[in-house]
Amino acid sequence: MLDAILASTASNSGSPAVTAADFAALPLPESYRAVTVHKDEAEMFSGLTTREKDPRKSLHVDEVPVPELGPGEALVAVMASSVNYNSVWTSIFEPVSTFNFLERYGKSSPLAARHDLPYHIIGSDLAGVVLRTGPGVNAWKPGDEVVAHCLSVELESADGHNDTMLDPEQRIWGFETNFGGLAEIALVKSNQLMPKPRHLSWEEAASPGLVNSTAYRQLVSRNGAGMKQGDNVLIWGASGGLGSYATQFALAGGANPICVVSSPQKAEICRAMGAEAIIDRNAEGYKFWKDEHNQDPKEWKRFGKRIRELTGGEDIDIVFEHPGRETFGASVYVTRKGGTITTCASTSGYMHQYDNRYLWMSLKRIIGSHFANYREAWEANRLIAKGKIHPTLSKTYRLEETGQAAYDVHRNLHQGKVGVLALAPQEGLGVRDHEMRERHIDAINRFRNV
Ligand SMILES: NC(=O)c1ccc[n+]([C@@H]2O[C@H](COP(=O)([O-])OP(=O)(O)OC[C@H]3O[C@@H](n4cnc5c(N)ncnc54)[C@H](OP(=O)(O)O)[C@@H]3O)[C@@H](O)[C@H]2O)c1
Repeated sequence: MLDAILASTASNSGSPAVTAADFAALPLPESYRAVTVHKDEAEMFSGLTTREKDPRKSLHVDEVPVPELGPGEALVAVMASSVNYNSVWTSIFEPVSTFNFLERYGKSSPLAARHDLPYHIIGSDLAGVVLRTGPGVNAWKPGDEVVAHCLSVELESADGHNDTMLDPEQRIWGFETNFGGLAEIALVKSNQLMPKPRHLSWEEAASPGLVNSTAYRQLVSRNGAGMKQGDNVLIWGASGGLGSYATQFALAGGANPICVVSSPQKAEICRAMGAEAIIDRNAEGYKFWKDEHNQDPKEWKRFGKRIRELTGGEDIDIVFEHPGRETFGASVYVTRKGGTITTCASTSGYMHQYDNRYLWMSLKRIIGSHFANYREAWEANRLIAKGKIHPTLSKTYRLEETGQAAYDVHRNLHQGKVGVLALAPQEGLGVRDHEMRERHIDAINRFRNV
């Protein structure tokens, strides 16, 4: 079956060579290759520091059975996926083992019990081809070329009916559920599916999903910071997974990104995206913590002064926060009166410390943001499909090299996004709209050319 899919999708012609009926008639294999962590290895890194925990040791490629297809679900042949930081968290079993999530989910319904297994198939992005749809799925059919966002919800409670991220059963697919995208076949809820941008290859189309949607809610959406034209937006890790999309949203939305990075090479990428105000935190040597327990407000002030030099004396309207403990005190300090700090993560530690006087006296707001609701994820993908926002793929690995790919992200050795080929035998396949691609080719390749 997989050979047949490859034959039909390996072509770079304007439309798929195989019809929906052909796809529906393909027999499903009994098993497929998938990137997993093993439950009996959840303690393998006990006693090691975060940095010492090596994803290459914990990530495996296993042959696993195809899961049963339930109502409202789809099985997708995965052509390509990508590494997100959540794959790093899963692979180092921090801050908790993701098997805890699977056990809890498994108890919620007989169908969800499928997810509670001694192995966890990870991955929260995919681009591929629909193989089968479950009962009740009408909007998608076998053969459709799709990407999937990673919001899994049940929507049986009214809490999530206005904003699907507020569903009490909200989960990130491939992190808090099983059967993720770093595999040859994935199981998704059909509402996760979105059209694959036609001008992109499989690996390019697979790379924005999670981070692009997250940055969109956090920065652009009214559920996040609600960025507007002219806003000064401080973006930590501006050439990283989230930051590379936040920078593009700021520029496309007429805002003024102040990009923080840690090397001249990363600064160059931000310049290539069109940013002008760039701070190399490494070269300028900011040290916001004097020791493990005490911050250094003098360093916050030095950082704020540098921002004013770059903005012509203005302060920050919105901070796009995710490093967490190491930067949060500085982020709160440099935000202007009435401004917003919007946070979706705590890579360097989740017990934050900041001087609350700067928050309340200057009427600042801290907004927690997490992934994106159905609509926000759709809108974020639409911007990719329209060529307004571009993938930031720098490098692509094969499925069996996912451990190395996750290691690179863990050690901050990467730029933008790191892709993974699943069924796609090589990079560059799956493009349907060559004319549009040609128009955007420099932007699409921006992160590859550094
Ligand atoms: N809640 C959500 O929905 C959601 C979604 C996506 C990601 N996340 C989380 O957000 C975090 C970032 O994800 P990502 O995909 O953007 O990762 P990434 O590709 O590794 O990029 C993060 C960037 O942040 C910068 N950075 C890292 N540690 C820092 C520190 N201590 N101080 C200042 N800057 C630092 C680095 O850039 P420089 O070295 O160039 O400064 C790094 O490239 C992760 O913890 C991830 O789990 C959450």
